[in-house]
Amino acid sequence: MTMTHSGQDPSGRKRVFSGIQPTGDGELHLGNLIGALENWVRMQDEYETYYCVVDLHAMTSPYDPKILDQARLTTAKTLLAIGVDPRRSLFYLQSQVPQHAELAWILGTITSIGQLERMTQFKEKADRSGQNLGLLAYPVLMAADIVLHRANAVPVGDDQTQHLELTRDLVQRFNGRFGDVFPLPDRISPPVGARVMSLQDPTAKMSKSDLDPDSRVNLLDSPDVVRKKLKSAVTDSDRTVRYDWSEKPGIANLLEIFSVCGGRPIPDLVAEFGEAGYGRFKEAVAESVVARLTPIRTRFKSLEDQEVGRIMLKGALDARSRAESTMVAVRRAVGLTGS
Ligand code: TYM
Repeated sequence: MTMTHSGQDPSGRKRVFSGIQPTGDGELHLGNLIGALENWVRMQDEYETYYCVVDLHAMTSPYDPKILDQARLTTAKTLLAIGVDPRRSLFYLQSQVPQHAELAWILGTITSIGQLERMTQFKEKADRSGQNLGLLAYPVLMAADIVLHRANAVPVGDDQTQHLELTRDLVQRFNGRFGDVFPLPDRISPPVGARVMSLQDPTAKMSKSDLDPDSRVNLLDSPDVVRKKLKSAVTDSDRTVRYDWSEKPGIANLLEIFSVCGGRPIPDLVAEFGEAGYGRFKEAVAESVVARLTPIRTRFKSLEDQEVGRIMLKGALDARSRAESTMVAVRRAVGLTGS
């Protein structure tokens, strides 16, 4: 398909890019699903979509090379199981498309180190796992991911806001200095669930790196594990179910999870469970999560590793040739025409 300069395909559809890290063993959690992946799947109907397992990003935190390969496969398989459709989306592994790294280098030459050092995620991760150049340059590679296919919109959770702002800064700086090559991308986050909180500490975001496995629901958790984790979710000493983030963050978090998994507006849930007691409320939340995750687990189990490998390779070949058309324009703009 031919691309226009503005980041739209000839039918006028806007272009979407997003990525996810195959961190640890590659399992994804409910925060990923609610904050980003539900939108990934939905946007396939309306937009031209590009989705990527960002394995180069996952190497910026300590990891085991023997596990990374399997983790990439698990993440890719989970995304297919959720409904990423390789017939409608360009779906691939970042490391199999070398233009991501090439463009990151070029964008790095217009990025200020001070701006990178001020990024919240860099400060948090550098404290935990030590500093390395990859961790500092992480947001530059993310910006390269987004602009490589000239995306207009990026479905992500709230925690990526600062990274998106940096991307927009870099687009403006690049276009100002070298000419109009990239569109300015917008962040797309869901109205409910853009920041799913830890089940054990509702003031911290649900995260793969949390040492407490009860803090998150993994998308492949069995129904019994899901029930146990939600039963042990931290709430408060009151017994009224109300949507109030400042007074009742644990309950507000569960209401958001329930609303998305059960497909019901929060006021309806409050009307039904307001005085039901926390025990009954948590059981109902758990059943909505189990119902949402069961088809994902079933589909995951039915996918063959080899078939997934083939899908990813085909996606990468396609992505390489599409990325090359942007890179030709980028190289020309920055003075690397090659003639
Ligand atoms: P990652 O792999 O940490 O998370 C993937 C997506 O899940 C969202 N998310 C959450 N949303 C709501 N509540 C939570 N508790 C929660 N935890 C995670 C994230 O916002 C994200 O959308 N830097 C990115 C990966 C990336 C990327 C990109 C994203 C690399 N290049 C280009 C978009 C475009 C990251 O670490 O996501």
